[in-house]
Amino acid sequence: MDIIENIKGAWIQHGPINERIYLMRLGAAEPKGLIALLDRMAVKNSYGKIFAKIPASAWEDFQAAAFIKEAVVPGFFNGETDGLFVAKYFSAERRTVLPRHVEALTAVVGQDAAEAEEAPKEHSQAGRKPMPCTPRDAREMARMYRRVFASYPFPIHDPAYLQRMMHEGVRWYAVRVEDHIAALAAVEIDSANRNAEMTDFATLPPYRGRGFAATLLRHMDGEARALGVKTAYTIARAASRGMNTVFKRGGYRYAGLLRNNSHISGAIQSMAVWYKPL
Ligand SMILES: CC(C)(COP(=O)(O)OP(=O)(O)OC[C@H]1O[C@@H](n2cnc3c(N)ncnc32)[C@H](O)[C@@H]1OP(=O)(O)O)[C@@H](O)C(=O)NCCC(=O)NCCS
Repeated sequence: MDIIENIKGAWIQHGPINERIYLMRLGAAEPKGLIALLDRMAVKNSYGKIFAKIPASAWEDFQAAAFIKEAVVPGFFNGETDGLFVAKYFSAERRTVLPRHVEALTAVVGQDAAEAEEAPKEHSQAGRKPMPCTPRDAREMARMYRRVFASYPFPIHDPAYLQRMMHEGVRWYAVRVEDHIAALAAVEIDSANRNAEMTDFATLPPYRGRGFAATLLRHMDGEARALGVKTAYTIARAASRGMNTVFKRGGYRYAGLLRNNSHISGAIQSMAVWYKPL
């Protein structure tokens, strides 16, 4: 699995699975020095991409180092400073998006406004209340993720990883049917910056299309809002019509496309960023 480490005060994930460096948090790192170091690391390991989540105030340094903006989330930091999702590519192939990978996204983003705002269908089971997961659920959760994803950018197939993330404050919620997990999702709150990532959505195939993911999202929006979060966002597979539909119907706005960004469901895929002011 790709490793997560702290370099010069910044948190990064990198490795051969996603074949990229992901600057998750700039923290107190000095941008110029850090970028030079990440550049060398990318070349040495033949990574195709550096992907970084940065405050708009750091853009000049990244732009000067040949990064491009891929998505912009207004108010990402404390509801005030925009968050930029920026990238630098080390091969033409990695930079090139295959049209068939974004067809589903284009269809959802381009949806007629009236259609997007139309009230979601009433699903007979959509009333099921999402319940918080505990470390004791980790085995069943990991088993469920293994069934749904052939691969994932983070080791959610491993119960120990899920338990560690829960201890670190990531909140998972489940919709259960007859006491078994039918759908899962997580909210990862960054309290210092008052934003939250809505992530790790999965619904077991027999239960899809019943509104479970939409119910989970609505519930997690409410939880995050109650905890003082200003901006919610997500990084969803561009190829997943269902996932993008859930966010669009949930009132999220499209922020941009991260090209060939994450190894998920068996291949490196482009990811769509969506956000919602809470
Ligand atoms: C994406 C996923 C989580 C959606 O879960 P779900 O519980 O079936 O979603 P919902 O039933 O809440 O769908 C909400 C809306 O999206 C629509 N939708 C869901 N899947 C859809 C699809 N494949 N195509 C078109 N619309 C779809 C539903 O019709 C529903 O709209 P409605 O309320 O008007 O009927 C599920 O399909 C899944 O687990 N996929 C594989 C894993 C995955 O790709 N996860 C996302 C990783 S980024």
